[in-house]
Amino acid sequence: MFSVRRRERIGGPGQFVHGVGGAQSGLDGLLAKSKETQINHNNRTWRVGTYPARRNPEQTMNGTVPQKIGRILTDLVLHPQYIPRCLNHNVINGKTPLDLEIPWFSYAAIDFLKTFLKPGMTVCEYGSGGSTLFFAKQVRSVFSIEDNPKWYELVTTRLKQKSVGNVTLKLCPFDFKNPIGFENSEYLHAMPDERFDVIVVDGSEEWKQVRPVCFQKAEARVKPGGIIVVDDSWRYPGLREHNEAKRVKVFQSVGPCRPGVTSTDIFFY
Ligand SMILES: C[S@@+](CC[C@H](N)C(=O)[O-])C[C@H]1O[C@@H](n2cnc3c(N)ncnc32)[C@H](O)[C@@H]1O
Repeated sequence: MFSVRRRERIGGPGQFVHGVGGAQSGLDGLLAKSKETQINHNNRTWRVGTYPARRNPEQTMNGTVPQKIGRILTDLVLHPQYIPRCLNHNVINGKTPLDLEIPWFSYAAIDFLKTFLKPGMTVCEYGSGGSTLFFAKQVRSVFSIEDNPKWYELVTTRLKQKSVGNVTLKLCPFDFKNPIGFENSEYLHAMPDERFDVIVVDGSEEWKQVRPVCFQKAEARVKPGGIIVVDDSWRYPGLREHNEAKRVKVFQSVGPCRPGVTSTDIFFY
């Protein structure tokens, strides 16, 4: 099988483009060990386990407090454009991303999305919040899937207060502590049977396989020319190797309301 890999920096240490052409797809390669169970998805059985420990230390929110502070300072020195927002959102303001009406992604990814989104686009997201209001302002419609009833109420109230009329917020509770049957869940299959310009995989992380399984679903529903956004992607390094995207960009930087540098991956189709 032909495989081309390209890796180049796009904005300083830790920010790079990772392109993969013709690489093997599927989740099988993501899963290191079968400790708990097997699930079926897309007509295949795959193991529920842990990810291979292939983390680039530059791309994680792991580490000691001094390490995290060091990463934040390094990022701000290299990308001073984030300093005002970082101070405002993380130190002074005390507001949540929902209050701020911005996604809980890295600023690098948020800035890219501002240039990518167009008024005629449609968005589907796993995981509602500030991202829902952010997308609603910039595209034609947003379909948002939420598992947490309390959070659903909060986001619904905020959408009403702001008179946002182009969002469908669907509550699909699921017990991620007992994830057997997730492959048949209402949550996973809540995505309407149509193609989207943007699909966001940013829902619950209570069970480590939620995002990889949702990512597979998203790959089947993204339009040619569209994108899939995976936040906190440093937790899911296998997705960078096993996907059907034309290329993958890792947007690593500080972000709103989080004490560290994170990465948000965007997959281009
Ligand atoms: C990482 S949040 C991301 C939500 C959204 N995509 C965003 O960017 O704002 C993922 C999930 O965390 C849960 N959650 C619980 N409390 C939350 C809070 N205070 N802020 C955001 N999400 C919260 C919700 O169920 C939500 O779907």
